[in-house]
Amino acid sequence: MATITLSSGRSFEAAEGVSLLEAALQAQVPLPYSCRTGRCSSCKCRVLSGDSVALQPELGLSSQEKEAGWVLGCVRAAQGPMTLQVEDLGGMVLPPARTLPCRIQALQRLAPDVMQVQLRLPPTADFSFLPGQYIDVIAPGGERRSYSLASASTADKTLLLQVRAVPGGAMSRYWFEQARPNDLLRLNGPLGTFFLRPLAGLDLVFLATGTGIAPVKAMLEGLAAAATARGPAEAPRSITTYWGGRTPADLYWDAASLAACGEVTHRFVPVLSRADATWAGARGHVQDVFMAEDPRLSRSVVYACGSPAMIETARAQLLRAGLPEHRFHADAFVCSASVPQANKG
Ligand SMILES: Cc1cc2nc3c(=O)[nH]c(=O)nc-3n(C[C@H](O)[C@H](O)[C@H](O)COP(=O)(O)OP(=O)(O)OC[C@H]3O[C@@H](n4cnc5c(N)ncnc54)[C@H](O)[C@@H]3O)c2cc1C
Ligand code: FES
Repeated sequence: MATITLSSGRSFEAAEGVSLLEAALQAQVPLPYSCRTGRCSSCKCRVLSGDSVALQPELGLSSQEKEAGWVLGCVRAAQGPMTLQVEDLGGMVLPPARTLPCRIQALQRLAPDVMQVQLRLPPTADFSFLPGQYIDVIAPGGERRSYSLASASTADKTLLLQVRAVPGGAMSRYWFEQARPNDLLRLNGPLGTFFLRPLAGLDLVFLATGTGIAPVKAMLEGLAAAATARGPAEAPRSITTYWGGRTPADLYWDAASLAACGEVTHRFVPVLSRADATWAGARGHVQDVFMAEDPRLSRSVVYACGSPAMIETARAQLLRAGLPEHRFHADAFVCSASVPQANKG
């Protein structure tokens, strides 16, 4: 066992060969994370002291970041005591992840390449999550993939997913060609730390592309549901959602239907990159449309979800323009298939 100390002063024990993230979660010390496969870089932390070994390739780090001492906690194991600089989620208690059976309740096409999947939990299932989190679904053939939860609660014992068809994808084939209501699946979750941090007095900005709107929808619904319990002092100053697609068919959910989250108005800005001349709305990329409005970044907090390219570009552009780094949160929909053994290093 090695003692891992965070820059906040909290510490936990990590066994040999167990990732820093896994050890932290086992010790109920929540660290930021998303994909758990070394691809998204949400679990990026800086080694201040100590030695560690990569369990899998750190695909989400550039060579400059590696040289500067950054590692990915989800695929790194300690080789002795370590001190790490990382976002402190110390005050948060994450709902425990469980593996549960579930059945498909309904399948509905939301767009030509997007399927809404409604999963039914067992009546006695004890499952709770924070809006914005995701689950892993394990299909009958054993494929396991990650999907964000697209609703804020499980009051009716069902969960909603929004699944985009990836050409040639194993799980896409299942959802779009084979899945039938009542199919028996398994899920593991809730997972990830893409949920809202304290928002008091901040301009809350959501940047989403494609099915990246799914966790944003859950967070907006959660904000609306919590509005009565939330005092004015805890409320954000404003809420704006920028949702990008190529053509109108890609914007398959009426995000404007959530007009207000309690006392705070919700502004929805649809953005298209390949619209024809009849489109009167914003054009281009969500992060450019947001920046063109000359936002006050010093009082903004941004939650970005969807394509890894959008997230990478938005992060670089917004931080360069003055957004504090700890106010940019992201869930990149990277490939969630496990990294092949042959590639591990
Ligand atoms: C935390 C997290 C949450 C996610 N939430 C959602 C969600 O809510 N809705 C959703 O539609 N997807 C989501 N994804 C992506 C999803 O988990 C799958 O990776 C994706 O649907 C492809 O699975 P597949 O089995 O169809 O393709 P695979 O068989 O895994 O891959 C087929 C080919 O497509 C490539 N590929 C895989 N994934 C992607 C991708 N995302 N973009 C481009 N190319 C890809 C692979 O490299 C491979 O070459 C999420 C991913 C993560 C990590
Ligand atoms: S790279 Fe570690 S959680 Fe994604």
